[in-house]
Amino acid sequence: MCGIFGYVGTKNNASDLVLEGLRILEYRGYDSWGIAQLVDGVISVTKKAGRIPDGDISFKATTIALGHTRWATHGEVTDQNAHPHLDCTQKLAIIHNGIIENYDKIKVNLKKAGHKFLSETDTEVAIHLIEKNIKAGNPFREAVRSAFNEFAGLNAIIVMDAASKTFVAAKTGSPLVVGRGKGKENLIASDAPALINYTDTFHFVEDGELLEITQDSIRAFDQKTGQEKNLHWQKVDWKFASNDKGKYPHFMLKEIHEQPTIIETIVNQSIPSIEDLAETILKSYGTYLVACGTAAYAALAGTYLFSKIARRHVNYAVGSEFGYQLDFLKKGSLVIALSQSGETIDVIDAIKKAKEKGALVYALVNVLGSTLYRMADYKILLMAGAEKAVASTKAFTAKLAYLILLSYILSSQKEKGKRVLQKALSSTNRLLQNEISNIKQIAQKLVNKKHIYVIGRGLAYPIALEAALKIKEVSYIHAEGMASGELKHGPIALVEKGTPCIAFLPDDETHGANLAGAMEMSARGADIIGISFQPHEIFDYFIRVDDAREATIIPETVAAQLLAYYLAIEKGFDPDKPRNLAKSVVVK
Ligand code: AGP
Repeated sequence: MCGIFGYVGTKNNASDLVLEGLRILEYRGYDSWGIAQLVDGVISVTKKAGRIPDGDISFKATTIALGHTRWATHGEVTDQNAHPHLDCTQKLAIIHNGIIENYDKIKVNLKKAGHKFLSETDTEVAIHLIEKNIKAGNPFREAVRSAFNEFAGLNAIIVMDAASKTFVAAKTGSPLVVGRGKGKENLIASDAPALINYTDTFHFVEDGELLEITQDSIRAFDQKTGQEKNLHWQKVDWKFASNDKGKYPHFMLKEIHEQPTIIETIVNQSIPSIEDLAETILKSYGTYLVACGTAAYAALAGTYLFSKIARRHVNYAVGSEFGYQLDFLKKGSLVIALSQSGETIDVIDAIKKAKEKGALVYALVNVLGSTLYRMADYKILLMAGAEKAVASTKAFTAKLAYLILLSYILSSQKEKGKRVLQKALSSTNRLLQNEISNIKQIAQKLVNKKHIYVIGRGLAYPIALEAALKIKEVSYIHAEGMASGELKHGPIALVEKGTPCIAFLPDDETHGANLAGAMEMSARGADIIGISFQPHEIFDYFIRVDDAREATIIPETVAAQLLAYYLAIEKGFDPDKPRNLAKSVVVK
C-alpha cells in the first residue's frame, strides 16, 4: 500500500527518477499517484487519480522531488486527494502512509486559524500543522517533529521543504528505507528494491525515528526527544532482486516460472537455519503459526505437515484473529510469523502482542529489513527474490518448501525431506513444460463462469483455499475453496449443470474420499477439473500433477496459479495489479 520515493542530489532529472521509482513500486497497489518537485524555489505538483501513464512525462529540471502512489483510506480516489499535499504557502509538500486517527480535531483548529484545505484527506492536516509550527518560529525539522508527535495512529510521513531543499521523514508504522547514492545524492523509499539502481547500502528507518535528508547528509533523531541518534547501515545482496519482467508479459507469470529455481535454492542452501528453528520448536511450550491471506494458507498447510510428518501439534491463527487467542501464550511459547512482505499490519500487531507475553518470535519472511524481519527474535529469509505481482505465488511455495523441510527435520529425516522436495521440483518442471497449453484451454472454457468451487482434503485443503483466492484475486470470478468433506454440509446445494469444480486428487490417503466428493459434484451436473496424478472418467478436464508425496502441494499450487493467471488474461485483466488490492497491507 502506498509507494514512496524521494530523491535529493545533483542530478537535474529528479522528477524522472522519482517517476521511475514509483513505477518500480507499482506492485504495492495504488489508485492514484503524484510527484512534487522544486523548480525555481517553488514547489509544483503533478498528481492524478488512476494509473501512472506509460511513456515519458515532461517535468522541468530539478534536483529534489518526492513521489507517492496512494491507496485511498480517507477521501475518495480523486486528483485532489492524491499525494503530495502542499501547505498554504506552497513551500512545503507532504506524502503520507497510514491514518492520522485524530485528524478531524486538528483540522477544526487549523480551519479556525484560517488554513485552507483542498482535499478530504487526513494527510493535508499534517502539512498545515507543520506550516503553523514553522510560522510559530520553529525550524523545519522541529516543526515536523512536534506535529508528528501530535498524531494518533500508525503513520509514516515525508515532508519536503523548499527553502532548505531538505526532506524530513518520521514514522511510527509503514516501512521507510534511506539509501546513500553515489556522490552527493540521497534517497528515501518505502521499499529497498526501488533503490536498487542507486545503492546497496541502506538504513531501515525505525519506528520513533526522525530523519533529516539533504544531498550531503542523512541524520537520525529520536522522534520524541529530538536527540541525535546513530544510523545503522546495512549492505543488501541484490542477487535475487530484479525490477524487470524479463521475457514474460507479466510479473505474475515470471514469478510462477521462478518457482523451480527457488525450491532448488531452498533445498541446497537453507538447512542450518531450519535446523535451528526445529530445535527451538522442540524446546518451546507450544508453537503458533500466524499469517494473513495466502501466507495464512501456507501456515494452515504447516499444521497438516507438522501432524503428518513430524507428529507434532501446532496452533494456527490468521493475524487479525490472533489477538483473541493469545491468552495462553507465555514465556517459552514460540510464534512463527509467515509473511512475504514482512509489513502486514495484522501480523506485526500479532507479534507485538506475542512479545509482550514473553513469547519468542521466529519470522519466515521474504523481505530483508522489513518490519517483521527486524522485530523477530530469529528469522529465516525465504530467498524467493522480490515478488512484484500483487498476487503472491513464489513466496507461497517457498513457505511450503520450508515447512516441508522443517517437518522432516523435526522427525529426524532431513535427507528424505530434501528428496521429497526434489520430487516436487521435477513435478513442477514437468507441469511448466507440458501443461500450459492445456491450462490455457481450460481457462478459455471457464472464462464466463460466475462461480468456481475448489475442493481438497488433508494437505490439499489449504491448497484448495489458496487456489480459490488466486482465482478471485486476479480473474474476479467468485471462487470458493473448501474441504471436500464439507460439501454435503451445505455448499453442494449451489451445484447445478455446468458448475465448475476444481478437485485436487493427489495420490495419498485422501484420494478415495476426495474422489467421492468430486463424484457427488459430478452427479449433480458439475464440470470436474481434476488436478491429479492420473486421469479419471469423471473428469471433464484434467491437469496432470505428478506425485511428490507431501510436496505434491507445490506443483498442485503452481497448476492453480497458472489457471488463475490465464483466467485473468482471458478476461482481459492485468494480473499484476488486481483492483482494490495492495501488495503490503499496512493499514487495518
Ligand atoms: C496474496 O495473493 C494476497 N495478495 C494476500 O493474501 C497476502 O498473501 C496477504 O496480504 C499477506 O501478505 P504477506 O505475505 O506480505 O504478509
